[in-house]
Amino acid sequence: MTKEDIQIESRDLNLWYGDAQALKSISMDIPENKVTAVIGPSGRCKSTFIRCINRMNDLIKDCRITGELLFGGRNICDRDADVVAIRKSIGVVFQKPNPSPMSIYDNIAYGPRVHGIRDKHKPDKVVETSLVAARALDEVGGKLDISALDLSGGQQQICTTRTLAVKPEVILFDEPASALDPISTAKIEDLIGELKHDYTTVIVTHNMRGRQR
Ligand SMILES: Nc1ncnc2c1ncn2[C@@H]1O[C@H](COP(=O)(O)OP(=O)(O)OP(=O)(O)O)[C@@H](O)[C@H]1O
Ligand SMILES: [Mg+2]
Repeated sequence: MTKEDIQIESRDLNLWYGDAQALKSISMDIPENKVTAVIGPSGRCKSTFIRCINRMNDLIKDCRITGELLFGGRNICDRDADVVAIRKSIGVVFQKPNPSPMSIYDNIAYGPRVHGIRDKHKPDKVVETSLVAARALDEVGGKLDISALDLSGGQQQICTTRTLAVKPEVILFDEPASALDPISTAKIEDLIGELKHDYTTVIVTHNMRGRQR
């Protein structure tokens, strides 16, 4: 792997919750446009590690980090790093679908609006292309006006679409399929295999079957 192929470099990353050290000297390269899997038993800090990548641990009191996560020549962990820009470039899909209490359309359009689409009527295009990219158009394309909370299945698709809508470079998936049935799990695994052509993907998973693409 050459330097150019590396999207994120973790260098001697350490993290403490209070006095308890959770991450110990993590050094690894996350290659561009590939799927990097983070695999391990429960409680082994997989979520802790990927939360560092888009600064989600900032929200945790008494959490201290040393070392570097280099992205675009900058250290994500720097105190004065641009957290808004980092979270735009590095999106996340969580284990439990967490749509906001608004319509499916507004869930997907929310990020693009926050990040600069000023005209309220303009997100249609980005909503549509994001639904296509997330392979969600057939399933939810006709239901954009209903509340995302009223959708029983498919909420994880909305969350993935919402993440894609802000056009990130990197997508972090933290066990995205753990609450899904086998068919929805297969769909999201297939989707992740496809997304690597356009995005750098990091996935926390217990599934070792490892679909090769
Ligand atoms: N906010 C927090 N404050 C204190 N300790 C925490 C916090 N979050 C996680 N931990 C601790 O850090 C360790 C790793 O947790 P983490 O959630 O990163 O593991 P995980 O590998 O993602 O586990 P799982 O497979 O169950 O999701 C655990 O011992 C957990 O109790
Ligand atoms: Mg976890």
